[in-house]
Amino acid sequence: MQFKFDHSLMKRGRVIGLKKRIEKEILNFKEILNKGYNDEKSFVNLVSDKDLLNNVYKIAHKYKNFNSIIVVGIGGSNLGTIAILEAIKGKYYNEFSKTKIYFADTTDPDNLNSIIKLAKGKVLLNIVTKSGTTTETIANFEALFKKFKNIVITTDKGSKLWFFAKEKNFDLLEIPHNIGGRYSVFSNVSLFPLILTGINVRKLLNGALVMRNKCLNSNNPAFVSASLVYLSNKKILDNWYFSNDLESLGKWYRQLMAESIGKNKKGITPIISIGSTDLHSMFQLNLDGPKDKFTCFLSLKKFNSDFIVSNFTENKLVEKINNKSLSKIMNAILNGVKITYMKNKLPYVEIILDKKDEYNIGKYMMFKMIEIVYLASLFNVNAFDQPRVEEYKEETRKLL
Ligand code: PA5
Repeated sequence: MQFKFDHSLMKRGRVIGLKKRIEKEILNFKEILNKGYNDEKSFVNLVSDKDLLNNVYKIAHKYKNFNSIIVVGIGGSNLGTIAILEAIKGKYYNEFSKTKIYFADTTDPDNLNSIIKLAKGKVLLNIVTKSGTTTETIANFEALFKKFKNIVITTDKGSKLWFFAKEKNFDLLEIPHNIGGRYSVFSNVSLFPLILTGINVRKLLNGALVMRNKCLNSNNPAFVSASLVYLSNKKILDNWYFSNDLESLGKWYRQLMAESIGKNKKGITPIISIGSTDLHSMFQLNLDGPKDKFTCFLSLKKFNSDFIVSNFTENKLVEKINNKSLSKIMNAILNGVKITYMKNKLPYVEIILDKKDEYNIGKYMMFKMIEIVYLASLFNVNAFDQPRVEEYKEETRKLL
């Protein structure tokens, strides 16, 4: 993974001040490293926890012959799983998999109905909820429970759901108490369903571990990225993913940034744009609208496949594309966009992933989680809570 940026974006004097604040965070990370899960920052320990890995493989092995898995969970309890699955297997992941996987997040009855119709053969319900009391998740669980009897519960050891699962003798997977939902992607939350769908989670964790160690040095990409976003003083972070299969990775990051930084009247609105698709929907605004965005372009060094454009139209319809590969055309589009941004003095950084494999996706996700912790420290907000989300939950409970 490469992280590139224009050095003029670094306002040198101010960066020194920011660095002092980040150094405290780095020290704190180092103090808790490999010491269990006693701190909210201990999500960095998930990637080197051998017991966790052995146990999740053991439980997954019991269900290896199942044909369909329905993951019931929302927010941090399913966004990371979908992101990894789509990045590795592509948007049409079920078409290419022996084991099918479906996600029931919101309480949309039509969505649930489609899932019930699609889930064939031996079906496993994986109920994932840290709190164990999320309305959407428990409502879907109750709706599905009568139809499917094989259940694995992933939750906090102290939750009511944990004790309910024990009573019913369901298989249980733990989410460590101090690991928040949006930082739980390398825990049982995602590892269990990913193993069942054939994702190599060892490689995923390995990439994350390499990146973790890199981001706990005093000069590291997570700090630079957080500082550039902070110093830009922009209200919107526009994440451009130049790969269709990475859209859900964008949604995972959107939650991470929105819930971690958006508080006390502070925050940056993360948005997702897909390259090159959204050049045909957003680009006019980006160039000619308010200059309120900082941009992060994410691209791939190499796609998994490629096609050569024939010369059937002999340059008559679009010049200069004949005999070129689609990846080359995509690259020219991306470079064209970057040049346009430069000419218009629109600030951006760039992330280039070597490829869409477990190792690189693991790296990206760890990079982004540590970046957000550093960014929260720069904004002086708590990266790990989301107190105002409770408001809608309370109102909903009253109405129900
Ligand atoms: O990051 C968070 O903690 C939240 O977004 C949660 O993931 C989300 O609200 C779902 O909560 P739970 O896993 O308790 O059902």
